Amino acid sequence: MSKPRIILTGDRPTGRLHIGHYVGSLRRRVQLQDEGDYQQMYVFIADAQALTDNMDNPEKVRQNVVEVALDYLSVGLDPEKCCIYIQSQIPELCELTFYFMDLVTVSRLQRNPTVKTEIQMRGFSGESIPVGFFTYPISQAADITAFDATTIPVGEDQKPMIEQTCEIVRRFNYIYGDTLVEPTILLPDNAACLRLPGTDGKAKMSKSLGNCIYLSDPADVLKKKVMSMYTDPLHVHVEDPGHLEGNTVFTYLDAFSRPEHFGMYWPEYQNLDELKEHYTRGGLGDMKVKKFLLKILEETLAPIRERRAEYQKDIPAVYEMLRKGSEQAREKAAQTLDRVRKAMKIDYFNDAELIRQQQEAFRNM
Ligand code: TRP
Repeated sequence: MSKPRIILTGDRPTGRLHIGHYVGSLRRRVQLQDEGDYQQMYVFIADAQALTDNMDNPEKVRQNVVEVALDYLSVGLDPEKCCIYIQSQIPELCELTFYFMDLVTVSRLQRNPTVKTEIQMRGFSGESIPVGFFTYPISQAADITAFDATTIPVGEDQKPMIEQTCEIVRRFNYIYGDTLVEPTILLPDNAACLRLPGTDGKAKMSKSLGNCIYLSDPADVLKKKVMSMYTDPLHVHVEDPGHLEGNTVFTYLDAFSRPEHFGMYWPEYQNLDELKEHYTRGGLGDMKVKKFLLKILEETLAPIRERRAEYQKDIPAVYEMLRKGSEQAREKAAQTLDRVRKAMKIDYFNDAELIRQQQEAFRNM
């Protein structure tokens, strides 16, 4: 029997989820869920974390909670198999964060590469960095450890968060005794999925750059986005040799195509290697490759879109699912917090022996 695994992951509700999320983590989650090789699986909407840099825009966060929940359901996460909840509804996470804050230095947070990049991206300066934003890696450690999570399927950008979580766990266990579980990150195994570029070929797919393909994009929007994707600027004429490096269409094919797609949609080629070979040799136009990619993406996204349309018909049911999930998650977090308080010697009222011993000591003074 394999080791009991507790799988946990989450997303900030700052927009609808896109195909970068899909290949980076969502597809893996559904796989893990369906394989069933775990003790428990938690997926949550990190609204409190989203507020650390959207404090002045609570309505945006609120509107996107249901969007992300719909995205979860439509990719195939099943509330019967996986507990889906909202971060802010688990107050135990705040308590755990508060205790963890004693175990992390300011300079360690300053060195966290993800925080560093995000501070830059948001244009925060030393004077304007909100404390809650600066310390969110600590609260993320609480998100993970409150559920005894062992396995965190996330994108590569989250690696520094998991590393910092492991440090906190080790320090906690060293000081207070073996209490918390050290998690491991589960990264996508395909390089293209680690950091899917935007349709403009720029570094990362992100809402602020306007280069996303959303899971919920209608077919005509998808088509328009694929047909105007960035390819190889040196590939001017069909007969010119094409380049694969930085060619977004081929990166997406790396992430989405499977051998059977060739038989189904483009039997002139056996596999992706043959297609790449022809493209680099010259004589293969971008439009043909884009049409092939579009067929594959449409095959992947059409069922997701259809399921979304179904779930959108009953929004109260989506909220009810989240409420139940949050209740269940809270029970688990409360159990962990009992263990944490005991380890930290702050469980005064549960410790009859402590009270008896102290009474004894005072009596003998
Ligand atoms: N930081 C993650 C993101 O930006 C969201 C997140 C919060 C998370 N807590 C987590 C992911 C715990 C995995 C585990 O999307």
